[in-house]
Amino acid sequence: MQTAIIGSGAMGSGIAQVLAQAGHKVFLYDTQSAALERANSSLKASFGKLAEKGKISNEQAEAYMANLQFVDSLEALAGSELVIEAIVEDLNVKQTVFRNLEAVVSGDCILATNTSSLSLASIAAACKHPERVIGIHFFNPAPLMALVEIIPAVQTDAALPAKVRSMVSSWGKLPVITKDTPGFIVNRVARPFYSEAIRLLEEGVADCATIDAAMTAAGFRMGPFALMDFIGHDVNYRVTESVWQSLFFDPRFKPSLSQKRLFEAGYYGRKSGRGFYSYAAGQELPAA
Ligand code: NAI
Repeated sequence: MQTAIIGSGAMGSGIAQVLAQAGHKVFLYDTQSAALERANSSLKASFGKLAEKGKISNEQAEAYMANLQFVDSLEALAGSELVIEAIVEDLNVKQTVFRNLEAVVSGDCILATNTSSLSLASIAAACKHPERVIGIHFFNPAPLMALVEIIPAVQTDAALPAKVRSMVSSWGKLPVITKDTPGFIVNRVARPFYSEAIRLLEEGVADCATIDAAMTAAGFRMGPFALMDFIGHDVNYRVTESVWQSLFFDPRFKPSLSQKRLFEAGYYGRKSGRGFYSYAAGQELPAA
């Protein structure tokens, strides 16, 4: 199957890896050539690491890499049967991309979004054929995380969720179909996890490292601060704001000022070298 991903950042390149390993041809498109170059080298490195560990052969690594094409024009996606959009979490920007995309691809191409929180109905409403729009929401890092949420909009063709579910299963993932509700399942449940941790920090109850250590010792895989820094505050803050607004400003989901300031300062976490923690170049764990 010929597939395409729009946005070659953290999620787009991870999803591209999943699809390439599933044997699909993948066109990875981004407006930033630097992002495409980063994706190219990080995908090469990922397949190289898998081969080094003996999880795949060198020939497989080469074949997976050969499934990928890095493109800087939307027109290159013309022959796709499935497109997954993974760009910035902003409704207007996503709607524009879907509008432009529809002019390029064939009438039966599935148009999917990896949005974490935005309304599928609003994204589909930008399209002439909203019945082929659906959410396919991967988790970070996409090659490692099993869960994929599938979100039909009210406009989505009734047969599409089941079709997408079997496609997602064939990629070795665990699909869960959920309604088009702010944050879907995981991001809805996770909002208070983040916001309550930030509240503890703001109240001076304990520092980030202590709260993270307590939560991981209690069985969570990552502490809330390390996880927010990993996701990126640009993404995580926008998701919180979007869930809060979409739930009619329910105070339970109110974003925190501390995180808003990190977002405004460009302290996005790991990707920018600083968030709640500082990250020295090449360092795996937060410095402080
Ligand atoms: P990112 O910032 O790493 O990557 C976004 C990429 O999209 C960048 O390379 C950027 O150049 C490109 N881009 C922006 N506008 C574009 C356009 N108009 N056309 C083509 N490319 C464009 O962001 P990330 O983290 O990969 O997030 C992408 C989406 O995935 C967001 O909707 C986010 O909510 C969602 N998501 C993020 C997760 C995370 O943990 N970071 C987890 C699951 C979903």
